[in-house]
Amino acid sequence: MPGRLYRFYLDEWAGAARSAYAAGVSLGLSPGYACVDTVVVCGMGGSGAAGDYLAQLSAHYGGVPIYVVKAASVPGWVGSKSLVYAVSFSGNTRETLECAVKAYRQGAKLVAVTRGGLLGSWAKRHGVPVAFIGEAPAPRAGWPNLFYTMLGSLESLGLLRLPRSEVEESIELLGLREDAETEAGRLVDWLGTVAGGWLSIVAAEPYYPAAVRFRSELAENAKLASDASQVPEAGHNIIVGMAGRRDTALLILDPVEEPWTTILKGFAEAVGPASSYTLRLRGKGMLPKLVWATWIAGLSSTLYAERHGLDPEAIPAIKAFRRLVE
Ligand code: F6R
Repeated sequence: MPGRLYRFYLDEWAGAARSAYAAGVSLGLSPGYACVDTVVVCGMGGSGAAGDYLAQLSAHYGGVPIYVVKAASVPGWVGSKSLVYAVSFSGNTRETLECAVKAYRQGAKLVAVTRGGLLGSWAKRHGVPVAFIGEAPAPRAGWPNLFYTMLGSLESLGLLRLPRSEVEESIELLGLREDAETEAGRLVDWLGTVAGGWLSIVAAEPYYPAAVRFRSELAENAKLASDASQVPEAGHNIIVGMAGRRDTALLILDPVEEPWTTILKGFAEAVGPASSYTLRLRGKGMLPKLVWATWIAGLSSTLYAERHGLDPEAIPAIKAFRRLVE
């Protein structure tokens, strides 16, 4: 019997993405919010992950530069020409709260993206607009809520330019539940054969945010340690360590587009891994492909946990760490 987290990924992501996008578009930020030359997304863990994708999309499709801050402080240059999204699913993450306060003091145009918590109440007290996002069983499962809210908001402000068809296609992909379950099941079979070795998730440079997210999902849901490698960069350093081991396993995120498919193949040949698995990313454009990889990461990591008698929701180490720093 699939658990709550798996079911949420499978059944709720399409709806969550659609309503979050609509909510982002109609956030009703004042026109001054469009008059910025940089966007900064501040958030940790599952919340900050959404920023990585937005930064990549702005580099690819066009718009103002987007920076991601996964720390307790915003850079000194953040000021009145910066739009800052303080993103925290719970609203109680110390680093993100500190970023929000600093960005506010530096005069940035600020938006809180959250379920509420301390960030929600702080924002209300200071007249900062809040995008209240929909419920999810865990921050990482709320990726579509966070990501599509910011995407819709950035597009409506004219700060990110994406073909509407790609947004639509990315959400439609999340309806292909049978295909996704089949893909996730196959991947879980393979993961079972390589667990314990050196697992690296390899992506072409534009798709690297999905590899990082895959690594986090495998850690938090499946309790599997792995590494995320970005090609071509990884071919200039980490490749040596990978090729020197007998237990290297590569999970290759193949966008099925040249020159990346050939380069990824060449990278894998140079590593000569003990085992490899190629996940072909569905969709035509970059956004749909990123979303497909992200969805399969969620489904396969929760499924792996369930098949191995683990609780995908349990994250005791994160809780212990948060107690240390809060
Ligand atoms: C837990 C998870 C974590 C949190 C992180 C920050 O599901 O994904 O990575 O996202 O600890 O917490 P929030 O997102 O509440 O700011």
